[in-house]
Amino acid sequence: MLDWFEGRARDLPWRRTRDPWAVLVSEVMLQQTQVERVVPRWRAFLERFPTVAACAACPAGDVLEEWAGLGYNRRALNLWRAAGVVVERHGGAFPTTLADLLALPGVGPYTARAVLAFALEADVGVLDTNVARVLARRAGRPLGAREAQSAADAAVPVGRGWAWNQAMLDLGATTCRARAPRCGECPVARGCAWAEGGRAAPDPAIGSAGAPGGQSRFAGSDRQGRGRLVAALRAGPVAVLELAAVMGWPEDEARAARVASAVVADGLAVEAGGAFSLPGRCAGAHK
Ligand code: ADE
Repeated sequence: MLDWFEGRARDLPWRRTRDPWAVLVSEVMLQQTQVERVVPRWRAFLERFPTVAACAACPAGDVLEEWAGLGYNRRALNLWRAAGVVVERHGGAFPTTLADLLALPGVGPYTARAVLAFALEADVGVLDTNVARVLARRAGRPLGAREAQSAADAAVPVGRGWAWNQAMLDLGATTCRARAPRCGECPVARGCAWAEGGRAAPDPAIGSAGAPGGQSRFAGSDRQGRGRLVAALRAGPVAVLELAAVMGWPEDEARAARVASAVVADGLAVEAGGAFSLPGRCAGAHK
């Protein structure tokens, strides 16, 4: 695996840093956006918020603004909240234990271990959907969440946590693909129960820990209206009277008001003087 990775590792900018803040930003962006699209956005984000302290010192609205087009605005808000926690609770020094990382807003088991492995070069197993698929296929059966995490941890060669996990992510993304896996190119096809069994159906990755649960429909969803509202707020305040139109529900003001209230409750917007705006930015402060 390590030889395979060395020969073909993708040269991605976040692989050249060990700064935990930069690594965290990359991992949050990569949860929802393709690698090629993340590269320029990651650079721009870190230019604007080069340190955790710089991010925490800005209003949340600035971070939401920089997140434009990346989707899942709550992740941006959580990133900003996490920066605040690092500054307030840890004096600006990035936490280095799993428990402290897991306590950061928006940081779950995957992201916490990704920071440990990719910033601190710790020997932990990073388990995302792609890695879970590799492990289930090797085992030849679906794995439960604990089992999959144990298998991921156990596979890490001592002292090689950084390269091993990057290699596993690449293997899952490019070779051990969900559909049409390229077993002929796989460095660990030998010892893979599923490959050696002739890839019999059902694929053990299906129903295994970390397998994606079907996303609910976006079109017509509350999430779509929320996204439209935050997108509009990036350009400037939205009057209460404009809400329903901006959110794409011109005939349903009640729904618009209800969903907009939820957006405010989540901290993604504020309401004052009959208008909504991004938090920490007031009328006139927009470009
Ligand atoms: N996806 C999630 N983390 C990644 C990383 N560090 N490199 C490439 N793709 C990723």
